[in-house]
Amino acid sequence: MIRKAVLPVAGLGTRFLPASKAIPKEMLTLVDKPVIQHVVEEAIAAGITEIILVTHGAKKAIEDHFDVHYELENELELRGKTALLKQLRSILPEGIRVISIRQGRALGLGHAILCAREVIGNEPFAVLLPDVLVDNFGLINSLGQPKTDLACMSQRFTKTGLTQILVDAVPQENVDQYGIVVLKEANDKKATNLAAGESKPIKAMIEKPTIDQAPSNLAIVGRYVLPPRIFELLAKTKVGAGNEIQLTDALDTLLQESGAEAYRMQGQTYDCGSKLGYLHATLIHALRHPEVKEDFRALINNLPEA
Ligand code: G1P
Repeated sequence: MIRKAVLPVAGLGTRFLPASKAIPKEMLTLVDKPVIQHVVEEAIAAGITEIILVTHGAKKAIEDHFDVHYELENELELRGKTALLKQLRSILPEGIRVISIRQGRALGLGHAILCAREVIGNEPFAVLLPDVLVDNFGLINSLGQPKTDLACMSQRFTKTGLTQILVDAVPQENVDQYGIVVLKEANDKKATNLAAGESKPIKAMIEKPTIDQAPSNLAIVGRYVLPPRIFELLAKTKVGAGNEIQLTDALDTLLQESGAEAYRMQGQTYDCGSKLGYLHATLIHALRHPEVKEDFRALINNLPEA
């Protein structure tokens, strides 16, 4: 069972300025819940009990969101607002710990993960990139319980001991925005030979290749289950694409050493680090929100022509 997860949240969110000047981009809300809370809930649903935020001094609001707000709770209690109080307390369910570590310098995703080394210690762990929202709404297992992609990856790691990397096919013209993997058995560039929910061995991976160089269109989506050996490899990894220490480069070494598998997503992702992805996620969550979904649907059905 994987118990710990690293969430790198130190990025300054320049794609979301001016909104992200004083508010961390991870605190932008989908209706009434910050994006980061959705990601933490995804981790908890996969059995994670220790969340490690690799963060920056300008992003204290994230730590505050997962802390107890005693005055607010007291006030709600006095006013008898029990439903709100319950909601507030459920942000961090009992038994779940949030720990934060500072990433003083912006040296890349690989460096951010390395910052969590002492807290993770010698055990496998998950990584969730908080820009990406993985939506497993409606997916259930044979016992009728919700089943998430991260939970499936964690189970697969526990069974095989092999690194699991969440991937999905992206349009060929977008391959330069992602880490790209090529499967051992790949025989064409379309990478259709990996079914949703299936894991297969990776032959190689490359961070943000040019469109011509890309060995496939199978992109790393932002969820990983990794062994602690990755820390030793990250410590030796030289700067790569974008002049940053890249997790993908250390993973490429790891896979030559001990193998790694690509797990293909069953759900759907929204890139909440981009304006359109964020709007898409907002739309979907508003259409599901128990309080506003009906009125919101009526509202979008009656939008005037722009
Ligand atoms: C990171 C990873 C990349 C991955 C992407 C997914 O890149 O380095 O391999 O495909 O996340 O969102 P970033 O988007 O942080 O530049």
